[in-house]
Amino acid sequence: MRALCFEGLNQVAVRDVAEPKIRNAQDAIVKVTHSVTCGSDLHLLGGFVPFAKRGDVLGHEFLGEVVEVGTGVSQRKVGERVVVCSFVSCGRCWYCKQGLFSCCDNGNPNPAITELAWGYGAAGCYGYSHAMGGYAGSHAEYVRVPYADYGAFPVPESVSDERAVFASDSAPTGWMGADLAGVRPGDVVAVWGAGAVGQMAARAAILLGADRVVVIDRNEYRLSQVERHIGAEPLNYRHADVGAELLERTGGRGPDVCIEAVGMEALGNSGPEVLYDTVKQQLHVETNRPSAVREAIFHCRKGGTVFILGVFVGLVDRFPLGAMMNKGLTVRAAQQHGQRYIPMLLERMARDELTTEHLGTHELPLADGARGYTLFKQQADDCVRTVFRPDW
Ligand SMILES: NC(=O)c1ccc[n+]([C@@H]2O[C@H](COP(=O)([O-])OP(=O)(O)OC[C@H]3O[C@@H](n4cnc5c(N)ncnc54)[C@H](O)[C@@H]3O)[C@@H](O)[C@H]2O)c1
Ligand SMILES: [Zn+2]
Ligand SMILES: [Zn+2]
Repeated sequence: MRALCFEGLNQVAVRDVAEPKIRNAQDAIVKVTHSVTCGSDLHLLGGFVPFAKRGDVLGHEFLGEVVEVGTGVSQRKVGERVVVCSFVSCGRCWYCKQGLFSCCDNGNPNPAITELAWGYGAAGCYGYSHAMGGYAGSHAEYVRVPYADYGAFPVPESVSDERAVFASDSAPTGWMGADLAGVRPGDVVAVWGAGAVGQMAARAAILLGADRVVVIDRNEYRLSQVERHIGAEPLNYRHADVGAELLERTGGRGPDVCIEAVGMEALGNSGPEVLYDTVKQQLHVETNRPSAVREAIFHCRKGGTVFILGVFVGLVDRFPLGAMMNKGLTVRAAQQHGQRYIPMLLERMARDELTTEHLGTHELPLADGARGYTLFKQQADDCVRTVFRPDW
């Protein structure tokens, strides 16, 4: 079958790879119809996520049809249209039972790497390096879905493919950020990043009752989507003083909740701090660039909560521990616990409370993979997310 593979730094190519087979009783095979690019892929392609090998199939957010199930699968049926959570979790371990699905003890068959880096191994993720389980990704005609009863969700008939596919990753990620940051009615929420994840965090904050939600980015097109499709307020950090604006918009107190949805390749405005991080990251002395995290911590009101959704893999320099400690902040972070939110999000999609199809700005066949990633990485032609159609 055809699949879009990692070929080296910022390079992808379509290759012929073996079709996946049922390996364990709880597996299903899904024929992929829609598979989306994610900001996390940019970190992988950029060489910031270790243990990706040439020829690995990319992609972790997808929708398709169940074409085969293992003997241990009882909930999913052949022929069902399903959206699959990007994280592979067993559904039964202690962590899964707490709803902490991306911390699953069984989803990653190669836990040694992450145990060494982080103290404990986390769950697996499709198409996201051998550190995250070495699973073949979804930019392919077929994909093996382990623990299918827990990771694959039937899509209500009234929800289109173009909308439902974002229930795989960006919608639950954004929802988790607003939920676990404890957004309450009346709150003012600031979100860094107007990509799909930031937009979904902003929408979740609104649906959880936030009074005002401000989304910060420098991409005017994405900010226009924030206004038009999300119902939040845009703030372009290239044309405004973010701190002064946030104070102005919060009656001088600062946001109650700050959500970071940018990650380890943040583009700073200018100035020595950006240069410092970039040079250190390129020399591998500092593995991640945390400028949006620093800003979120700095601008959050006293006693507020910061939630880090952006992906980081290693160490950062100049983490503002003093601000966090002295302002009494709660700082949380997580990979998405999608299994906890996806059914609820699909219902909201069916009720038109959550619309996502505007995020898939470019639909392309796998053969246009290189162009699809270039458009996405460069944010060219107003690209927000590329949707690959392996069935084209
Ligand atoms: N926690 C999770 O489970 C999870 C899931 C999916 C994605 N992610 C991560 O979330 C982050 C966002 O994902 P995405 O797909 O929306 O990515 P994206 O690359 O499409 O969007 C990131 C946005 O951040 C903006 N940006 C860059 N520097 C900024 C700064 N200093 N301040 C404000 N905005 C800035 C960019 O212009 C861009 O619009 C990535 O790090 C991704 O890896 C995490
Ligand atoms: Zn993703
Ligand atoms: Zn588990």
